[in-house]
Amino acid sequence: MSRIAYVNGRYAPFADAAVHIEDRGYQFADGVYEVIAVRDGRLADLEPHLDRLDRSLSELRMETAMSRGALAVVLEEIVWRNRVANGIVYLQMTRGVARRDHAFPDDCRISIVVTARNAPPRPAAIVERGVRVVTVPDIRWKRCDIKSISLLPNILAKQKAKEAGAYEAWMVDEDDRVTEGSSTNAWIVDRAGDLITRHLDNAILAGVTRMAVGDLAMKQQRRLVERPFTLGEAEAASEAFLTSTTSSVTPVVQINDVQVGAGVPGPVTQALRNLYDAHLSGR
Ligand code: PDD
Repeated sequence: MSRIAYVNGRYAPFADAAVHIEDRGYQFADGVYEVIAVRDGRLADLEPHLDRLDRSLSELRMETAMSRGALAVVLEEIVWRNRVANGIVYLQMTRGVARRDHAFPDDCRISIVVTARNAPPRPAAIVERGVRVVTVPDIRWKRCDIKSISLLPNILAKQKAKEAGAYEAWMVDEDDRVTEGSSTNAWIVDRAGDLITRHLDNAILAGVTRMAVGDLAMKQQRRLVERPFTLGEAEAASEAFLTSTTSSVTPVVQINDVQVGAGVPGPVTQALRNLYDAHLSGR
């Protein structure tokens, strides 16, 4: 099946889809992105993703001429043209093409690229048995709230997890507090059954899944405490899990060499996972 990408106003086969070598995304990672889930051919939680995109753009003082409505049409078109039923859409906006100079160019048009693909079903073992995470020092910049394409520390962290045979790397700050995963938000459930996840600030990305799961938890009368938690607290928690567009709600049963709770996915995590699944399917 030929795959189609959207590049600056054009739908092109993958082999022909390209941006200029002086695109500032390529030279400076001067851009932002979103990953949106597609469920049954429908874009899930589109509005919060576009809200976050607007915020990232505005924090980097990037202005796009494309309206939200026009962008939504492109996203849907790319899903349709690639016959995506269940998968993801990737959207990237960079400051555009200009002669290399760190400061913003005077006149330059934002480059927009959109791709989409079906995602293979995730191995059942991930959900049934849960996953292991390893910890790494959080060496990122102080604006992790911006969904920037500059992801080197995240890449290094994920590679470390992969080499350790783990699913994800949780990043730990200088005060021994877990900030988030390399591409996921981090959660624990304490002995009282309360959910704990770091509050929104510049140390983490405001995950769209995080927000949806938090809302679902509160609708279930569960207490949600948004505050930093330490690695020690996570190790002593009764449950832990991670959330993201691509990982949904994934149980964490081991942190480094320490088993979390009973070492199997806990009831709170499983209930939230089912609720989130129903939310994605619009049920
Ligand atoms: N990652 N934290 C970081 C650092 C992330 O990169 C992501 C998303 C999240 C979760 O956000 P959301 O729930 O909106 O997907 C948290 C995407 C999926 C990625 O880079 O592929």
